[in-house]
Amino acid sequence: MIEIAQPDDWHVHLRDGPMLGRVAGETARQFGRAIIMPNLDPPVQTTDQAVAYRDRILASLPKDSSFQPLMTLYLTDETTPAEIQRATDSGVVFGVKLYPKGATTNAESGVDRLDQMAPVLEAMEQHRMPLLIHGESTDPDCDVFDREEVFLEEWLAPMVERHAGLRVVFEHITTKSAVDYVRQAPDRVGATLTPQHLLLNRNALFAGGLRPHHYCLPVLKRERDREALLGAATSGDPHFFLGTDSAPHSRSTKESACGCAGIYSAPIALELYAQAFASVNALDRLEGFASHFGADFYGLPRHQKKRQLRPSNWTVPDSPSPDPDTPQVFWTGQDLDFRLVDEI
Ligand code: DOR
Ligand code: ZN
Repeated sequence: MIEIAQPDDWHVHLRDGPMLGRVAGETARQFGRAIIMPNLDPPVQTTDQAVAYRDRILASLPKDSSFQPLMTLYLTDETTPAEIQRATDSGVVFGVKLYPKGATTNAESGVDRLDQMAPVLEAMEQHRMPLLIHGESTDPDCDVFDREEVFLEEWLAPMVERHAGLRVVFEHITTKSAVDYVRQAPDRVGATLTPQHLLLNRNALFAGGLRPHHYCLPVLKRERDREALLGAATSGDPHFFLGTDSAPHSRSTKESACGCAGIYSAPIALELYAQAFASVNALDRLEGFASHFGADFYGLPRHQKKRQLRPSNWTVPDSPSPDPDTPQVFWTGQDLDFRLVDEI
């Protein structure tokens, strides 16, 4: 049996409307708190919208749920320093998300020129409001597998230097270059790691045929990248912490001629991370990664409550729901060696 402090998810998509009702309970069953991504359609741009979205999330959960949604704002060309002040004062907004314009799902309202954002970034430095970054270049000539490295060189590293007080999370990193950068970066820079990037390399996209449920952005990379990511997650270095990027889409929009990016891992997230850590005999490092380092980065208390994962060999059921709007869970038909013990 593995016992760890209650983990949190520092990057998740809960969506809205009927999908929110389908998925929020799964994240709340596994995690105590979660950073909620703002890429709704339309995006969550203001503090008022974040407060209203938080209310909808809480309303979708049982009344006695102790789950805490930590809200974020979507950075656009219209975001003002005054909005950052409002977000800070609200006590419910914990980060501002930067999507390079067009980089991924609902990123059309994102940012394409960072220099114009300087006053907003300065306000974020002043209020210690973290900037959460989808780190991919959107240059159409950039090879899809190089997008993270190009973004790191052209946008991220210069920005971290220019804004010497800015707290930054390099979200869902996928490359050895990103690991090497974050490892030597100041403590105000952190990175989240998803279960799929710890468990799979890009061959999984084409294993026996095209695999839409392995497609997310940033896309899976090479085996040497996966090894570097798993090395970082299991190193005990507090720069690196858990963020599932669980991103549900209906089966019909993923299994399509132009399928959406996003992997839905929430129902088995901790089991997936345990599987990855066990593969390199590092289960003793899971608690720091899953339960401590993210809370420390965001300046929130670590949970006192404990959760348990028990050894159990089981297969994630491959029983697609007849409802085409239901998202398919990652790892269906594959084995896991642990099971999260439900709270009683
Ligand atoms: O694969 C992804 N899906 N990557 C993202 O950055 C967004 C996400 C989504 O919202 O579906
Ligand atoms: Zn995401």
